[in-house]
Amino acid sequence: MANILAVGIATIDIINTVVDYPDEDSEIRASVQHRRRGGNATNSLVVLSQLGHQCRWAGVLVNEADTDIILTDLNKHHIDTHDCTYLNQGKMPTSYISLSAKTGSRSIVHYRDLPEFSFDDFKQIDLSNIDWVHFEGRNVDDTLKMLQWLKQQHPHLPCSLEIEKPRDNIEKLFDLPNLILFSKHYASHLGYNNATNFLTELKLPSATVAACAWAEAGAWARDKQGTLLHSEAEKLNSVQDTLGAGDTFNAGFIHAILQHQPLESALHSANQLAAKKCSQVGFDNLVNNTTEQAHFLCLKADLPEQGFREFKIQTEQGELALFISCQDGETTAYQNKCPHLGIPLNWETDKFYSMEKTHIQCSTHGALFTLDKGHCIAGPCVDQSLMTLDLEWREDRLWLSLPLNFSL
Ligand code: FRU
Repeated sequence: MANILAVGIATIDIINTVVDYPDEDSEIRASVQHRRRGGNATNSLVVLSQLGHQCRWAGVLVNEADTDIILTDLNKHHIDTHDCTYLNQGKMPTSYISLSAKTGSRSIVHYRDLPEFSFDDFKQIDLSNIDWVHFEGRNVDDTLKMLQWLKQQHPHLPCSLEIEKPRDNIEKLFDLPNLILFSKHYASHLGYNNATNFLTELKLPSATVAACAWAEAGAWARDKQGTLLHSEAEKLNSVQDTLGAGDTFNAGFIHAILQHQPLESALHSANQLAAKKCSQVGFDNLVNNTTEQAHFLCLKADLPEQGFREFKIQTEQGELALFISCQDGETTAYQNKCPHLGIPLNWETDKFYSMEKTHIQCSTHGALFTLDKGHCIAGPCVDQSLMTLDLEWREDRLWLSLPLNFSL
C-alpha cells in the first residue's frame, strides 16, 4: 500500500436533513442534524485510509473548538496531521448543508475565513517516503508553485489534481499533474452537457490521464493515448447521502491507479465505491462493507476459442495468478495454483492441457483435473480441486469478481 499526501481543506459540515428543500423566505424543520468533519481532501484521505493506505494531510487548522471534531475524526482514520499549519485565530471552514431526504442531493452554503495552505508551508514537507501527492485545486497561484516545485524536486513522484470548481486561471494547473479528476460541475460550467465531449476537447499534455464522473450517467476517463473509456454508474435502490460522493470516487480512482488497474477497471471500482457512499450516511465503514473487488480481464476477442489464457492481476491481497479455460463455448476461471504444492500448474505460457487435451494437467507432478470443474481425478492431490473464480461478462468484456476477503 502507498504513502499518500493530500493538500487541501478540512471543514466542519453542519448537515440538516430536510424532507424537501425549503422555498425562499420560508421555514422548515430539519428531521436530523449532524455535525461532522468534511472537506474534499480529507474526505478522500478517509476513504484512501480505509483502502489500506498510509495517509497524511497538509492543510490549515485553527486553535478553536471545531478543530477537535476534525482531529478526532482524522485520528480515528489514522490520518497523520503533522504537516498541517496551525493558526491561533480564525474559524475552521464551515459548510451549512441541506440534505434532501427525498433525493439525497445536497445544497451547501460555505463560510470561509481562513488562509489556504501555502507554497511556503508545502516546501517544508519531507516528501522522501511519499508515493503519491493529491492536490485539491484551490488557491491556484500557490498550487501552481507546489506542482512546479514537486516536478523539479521529485520528478518521479506521481500526483493528482482535483478540479471541482471553476476558479480564475485554474487551467494553468493542467500541465503538470499525472492525473486530473474533473467534476461534472466544472465541465458543465464550461458549457458541456456530457463528459465525452468535455474530455475529447480538453487540452492536456499527452501523458496526463483525466477522469470525469457524471452522476447517474457513470464515469469517463481519457487515457494517455487520448482514448475514452466509460463505466456505467451503479444502480442504487435508495440514495441516503451524496455529500462527498465525488471525493470518494476520486479516492477509489487513485487507489485503483496505484494498484495498476486498467483505467476501465479503475472507473468501475471508483463508481462502486461512490455508489456505496451515496447509499449510506457519512464515510465510516465505507470499504469494509464492500464485498467484492472487480478486475477487468480482457475482451472476448482476446480469448482462444478452445484452450487457455493466463492472467496476473494485482489484488488487495497481492498478485493473483489465474487462467481462463475456454471449452466448447464455456469459460471458467481457475487460480493458477496446484492444490498439491501450491505452485503454478504450467511451465509454458497458456499451456495447461494434458496430452490428450481431455484434462488440465499440472506440469510438475502430473495431477489431472477435470476441464469443467477443476476437480483432481489423478495424481498427488486426488479429490481436491483447483480454486474457481467468479467471472462476469459485461457485453464483450470479461471481468473477474473477487470477494474482498479472498486469500491468495
Ligand atoms: C463534500 C465536501 C464537504 C464540504 C464541502 C467543501 O465534497 O468536501 O464535506 O463541506 O464539500 O467544498
